[in-house]
Amino acid sequence: MYRLVATCGFGLESVLAYEIRHLGFEEVEVHDGRIFFDADEYGIAIANIWLRTAERVLIVLDEYPAPDFDALYDGAFSSDWSSVLSSGDAFPVKGYSLNSKLTSIPACQSVLKKAIVEKMKAQYSTQFLPERGVEKKIRFSIVKDICTLMLDTSGDGLHKRGYRPLLNEAPIRETLAAGMTDFARVYDDSTVVDPFCGSGTIVIESAMRAMNLAPGLTRAFAAEEYDIVGKEIFDEVRSEARAQIRNDVSFRGIGSDIDGSAVRIASDNAQRAGVGHLCSFSVSDARDLVPEAGSLIITNPPYGERLSSPEEAEKLCADFGKRIVNGDQRGTYIISSLPDFEKHFGKQASRRRKLYNGMIPCQLFMYFSEKKRQD
Ligand SMILES: C[S@@+](CC[C@H](N)C(=O)[O-])C[C@H]1O[C@@H](n2cnc3c(N)ncnc32)[C@H](O)[C@@H]1O
Repeated sequence: MYRLVATCGFGLESVLAYEIRHLGFEEVEVHDGRIFFDADEYGIAIANIWLRTAERVLIVLDEYPAPDFDALYDGAFSSDWSSVLSSGDAFPVKGYSLNSKLTSIPACQSVLKKAIVEKMKAQYSTQFLPERGVEKKIRFSIVKDICTLMLDTSGDGLHKRGYRPLLNEAPIRETLAAGMTDFARVYDDSTVVDPFCGSGTIVIESAMRAMNLAPGLTRAFAAEEYDIVGKEIFDEVRSEARAQIRNDVSFRGIGSDIDGSAVRIASDNAQRAGVGHLCSFSVSDARDLVPEAGSLIITNPPYGERLSSPEEAEKLCADFGKRIVNGDQRGTYIISSLPDFEKHFGKQASRRRKLYNGMIPCQLFMYFSEKKRQD
C-alpha cells in the first residue's frame, strides 16, 4: 500500500476529495490544494486515469519536520531511496516552500539532491550514479516547516488530457472546467450550453463526464515506466475504463463563440476527445443567446485581463446578464474575475466559490433555478 497525494487548484478540494472517495479509496485526508489517500499499484493507475480535477498524483515517500537545512538533509538521507529508485534512474528534484523558515527553493533543492545522492551511493555501493535511465521526478513541499518528499507518478500535468493541442487565446484548464461541471451537477441527460466556448473545454469536459469517459484514457503517465507500477497495470485499468464508457446517453453540449476560428478548434477538440457526436459548435454572439428550457449554462466569459479591456468585459457581462437572468435554464454557472461581477450581471448569485484560473483569482457564480431536477 502507498500513501498518495493528489494535488488540485485551490477551491477544488471538496470536489477532488469526493472523486477520490467515489473511486473507493480510503484514509482520505483533505488539505489546502492536496488530498492524501491510500492506494496500491492499481490505485495509482486508477487515480491517474480517472481523476478529473486532480493536477497530479504523487507517492508520499516521507514526511518530517525540517526547520533548518541539517534537518532537511537528515530526513532525506534517512529515507529508503532504493525502494523507489534504481541505480541508473534520473531523479530531478523540484518543489516549493510555504509559511516555513526554509524559503530558498534552489538551496532546498540542492540539499535534498545531495542527501538522496549520498544515500543512493551508500545503498548501491557505488561512487557513480549515471542518471541516464528512467526519469523519476522527486517533488518536495515544505509547509509550516514540515517537509514532504514525493515521487511523481503522472508526468505531464493531468489537465493535459491530449484532446487540446490547438489553443485559442485564453483557454480554461481542463481540470478547472471539470470542477465547474461537478458544481453544476452535469448528468448523462443534461444539456450544457457555453456561449463563450473558446476551445470548447467546458462543453467537452461536460460530455466526458456524461459519457463516463475517463479523462486520462488516451494519454501516457510517468509511472508506466516505473518498475513499481508498470505499463501492464495501466493498460488493464484503461481497458476496464473503456468498458465503462456509456454510449447510450442523451447529453447534449452546445458551444458557441463570436470567433469562428475558436469554434473550429472546439469542434476538432471535441472529435479528438471522443465526444464530437454529442456536441455542436457554432459562431454566435452570446448577447443573442436564448436559454433553452432546462439547460445548464456553464461558461467563462472574457475577463478583460487576457482578452479585451475590463470596461468591455463589464459591458459584455451586463448585456449578457440582461439576456439570460430571467431565462428558463436549470442553472447558470459563470466563472469570472471581475470584482463586481454580480453588480454588472444584474443578479446576486445563489452561491459563490473562490477558485483560481491559472494564477488569476476568480469566483464561480452559481445561480440555481427554483425548478429542481426530479430524481
Ligand atoms: C475566456 S475565453 C473562453 C475560453 C474557453 N473556456 C476555453 O476553454 O477555451 C472567452 C471567449 O469569449 C469569446 N467572446 C468574446 N466576446 C464574445 C461575445 N460577445 N459572444 C460570444 N463569444 C465571445 C472569445 O472569442 C473567447 O473565445
